[in-house]
Order: sequence, then structure tokens, then C-alpha cells
Amino acid sequence: MKKTSRKGVIVGTGFVGTGIAYSILNQNILNEMVLVDLNEDKAEGEARDLFDGVTYTNGNCRVKSGDYSECKDADVVIVTAGINQKPGQTRLELVDTNAKIMKSVIRSVMDSGFDGVLVIASNPVDVLTYVAWQESGLPQNRVVGTGTSLDSTRLRMQVANKLNVDPRDVSAFIIGEHGDSETAVWSHATVGGKPIMQMIEDGEGITKEDLDEMYVAVRDAAYYIIDRKGYTNFGIGLSTARVVKAILNDEHAILPVSAYFEGQYGLEDIYTGIPAIVTENGVERIVELHITDEEKAQLHKSASELREVLDSVR
Ligand code: LAC
Repeated sequence: MKKTSRKGVIVGTGFVGTGIAYSILNQNILNEMVLVDLNEDKAEGEARDLFDGVTYTNGNCRVKSGDYSECKDADVVIVTAGINQKPGQTRLELVDTNAKIMKSVIRSVMDSGFDGVLVIASNPVDVLTYVAWQESGLPQNRVVGTGTSLDSTRLRMQVANKLNVDPRDVSAFIIGEHGDSETAVWSHATVGGKPIMQMIEDGEGITKEDLDEMYVAVRDAAYYIIDRKGYTNFGIGLSTARVVKAILNDEHAILPVSAYFEGQYGLEDIYTGIPAIVTENGVERIVELHITDEEKAQLHKSASELREVLDSVR
């Protein structure tokens, strides 16, 4: 698939959908962006608002609202439709409502003749990416969830802030559920190439207790934000734009997305967050890190919780 049209459709124009649209527009990732929502007026209002600012971006993205027929020739369709967490609510508690919404959205997307890459951002994202894949009939690699991309960014920010270094020099991944059972892969976290575990040994301004605190801050970040502003949108907007950019530019970037497991890490037939190579065809392959037994056990625990929830909506 050659990305010449650079067309993307965003389904759902709530806080997350518009956060993604704004991030994508600012980074000039698409040439054409179509916003779709059940509430057509809302989609049209958001599209017009974004359209008005195109002069200030580095491109000439054609922004408009439309219906599902726009998915026919889109390179990517980004799904954000669904209800979001209320204060104190877990992502998994959204599953009954959002699985129903996801099935109906994907049916409409596929009815258009869509043949690109689906990017799922609705929560619980790992479960809904699986539901979207099943409903779409697309090959598993062409259905990608935002997974733990945001969580991993949150972790890099925590580490960077603690050590006062550029977060782009921090490599660190969260894997597993985008949610309460996620795992920090400290065994492979590095700062400027130096393993964080060695920095602890060398007494370089970071301790084991700091790692535990940072993990909790990341795991609970959405609760922290939702308690204060009612929803999250900017972080997920930027993280999703990063995934879409990797797809549109065929970057082969290694990003922690929700990908389909076929035996990697001893897991089968599940979507969850894991570093994977992202190309114009979606996930090219999962990168299998030699994680510790404890990290692997946590990943398996996360996968079995997701499996249980998935079985309840299939
Ligand atoms: C968050 C939402 C997107 O973590 O799940 O901000």
C-alpha cells in the first residue's frame, strides 16, 4: 500500500477524537482529514474550527466532516467512539457499552469498502482492538490499538523529570493492559543507553523506591487527570498522532501499541500493549524482549484479565 493520498478518518469527535485531530493537524501528518460523528453538527462544528486554523500549520490538510462512505479510500481510520471513564471508574468497566458501539462502528467502516489500517483508541483499548479486528475481517496486523503508547510516554516523562534529562533520551516501555494491570519493563529501561538498573547501582540520582513511585504515577495517571478535569485528551491525542505518523510514513518505528500475539512471550490470541514495529501495513512484528520472569508473570496476569473481559463481550 503506497500512502499517496494520506487520508484519515476520525470516528468520534469527543474530547479524544478532537485531541487526536488537533495533534495530527499540527504535525501535518495527513493531507485529508474527515471527522465522523453520530452528532453530525458536532462533527461539522469541530471540522470547521480546525479548518479555520490550517494556515498556521505546515501543510494544507483538507479538514471536513462526513459520513462513513469517506472511509472507502482512507489510509487510516481512527476510532475513538464510546463513553469515557467517570471519576473512580476503571477502563474495563466501559466494556459492555463500548464493545457494542465498536461493533456497529466497524460494520459501517467496512461497509464503505475500507481497506487500510484501523487504529483503535476507545477504551478498554486492548479488548476493543480485538473486537474491532474480529468485526472487521481485516488481517490482524492491520488493526492496531494505541495500547501502552501513552503509558510509556508517561513513564519516560517521569524518568526524565526525575533525572532532569530530555525525555527523548529515555527509552522505557509499559506493556500489557492499558489500565490497572499494566507492567513497567524496568529491566530494559535506559537513559542515554545506560540501563536504569545500573544507574540505581551507581547511585545516579534514582532508587528502586523511585521506580515503584513512578510506576504507580503512570498506572494511575488517568485517574489523577480525570479527578481534576473530568477526562483525558491531550496525552492520548499526541500518542495516537505518533502511531498514525508511523503508519503514514511507513516508519518501521518501534512503538508500544496493542498488537496481536501469536505465541510471543508465551501468549496467544490476544491484543495488548507491546513494543512492535509499526509500518504502513500496521504492525509488522512484535519485538520480543528478554524480560524478567517477574515482568513476564505480570504480562500474563494482564493478558488473562483481558481474556476474561473479552470472553464476556464476544
Ligand atoms: C488515558 C486514557 C486515554 O490513559 O485511557 O489517558
